[in-house]
Amino acid sequence: MASTGDSRSLTPKIAVFCSGNGSNFETLVKANRKGVFPGEISLMVADKKQIFAIKRAEKLKIPVLYVNPKAFNSEKDYEKVLIKELKTWRIEWILLAGFMRILSPFFVSKFKNRIVNIHPSLLPAFKGAHAIADAYNYGVVVTGVTIHLVDNGVDSGPIVLQEALKIKPEWSLEQLEEAIHKVEHKLYPKAVNLLLTKRWRILKNRKFIICS
Ligand code: GRF
Repeated sequence: MASTGDSRSLTPKIAVFCSGNGSNFETLVKANRKGVFPGEISLMVADKKQIFAIKRAEKLKIPVLYVNPKAFNSEKDYEKVLIKELKTWRIEWILLAGFMRILSPFFVSKFKNRIVNIHPSLLPAFKGAHAIADAYNYGVVVTGVTIHLVDNGVDSGPIVLQEALKIKPEWSLEQLEEAIHKVEHKLYPKAVNLLLTKRWRILKNRKFIICS
């Protein structure tokens, strides 16, 4: 049983990774500034240049580290540069917020149990990049949001928090997306606070976090 809830520093530096809109990033920064969770979001990492998340970062005065993955011969070379930069920034925690790349086991091992992801379904249902539409098109009555630690699988790490959401039969896909985002914006800061303030551990053979 791995006890992993130790805090390395009182004000850990946090990086948020984005590839798109960045609404979760903005919510996290605002929550952090209000003191909803400790530490300091000191960096946004982007893998694309023309994304709205970067505009949000500029407005919020959060530095952006843009590294173009296409400029490298391999994923490992790209990740090595990221790791080096993150070390320079003294980043201890990584929050994925709509980051559309799968981080390799090599990268994940450098931040073991310190990479958090948000996924717009109740995992393990509807993994992948189109979770909201997949749940909607399947016709489930309940879906939701999952915050989990990142392991070597895809959308498969230990679960930190989940919240369910009932889909109203008359909702369009856009209405469901809006409702999911509302839940996300509430749940992500709460999960980060839990990880950064509570003593927690991952139960052996059962992939979720319990707090003591
Ligand atoms: C969210 O739905 C999140 O669950 C998923 O990507 C989306 C990002 O949205 N991983 P935003 O960029 O934070 O607005």
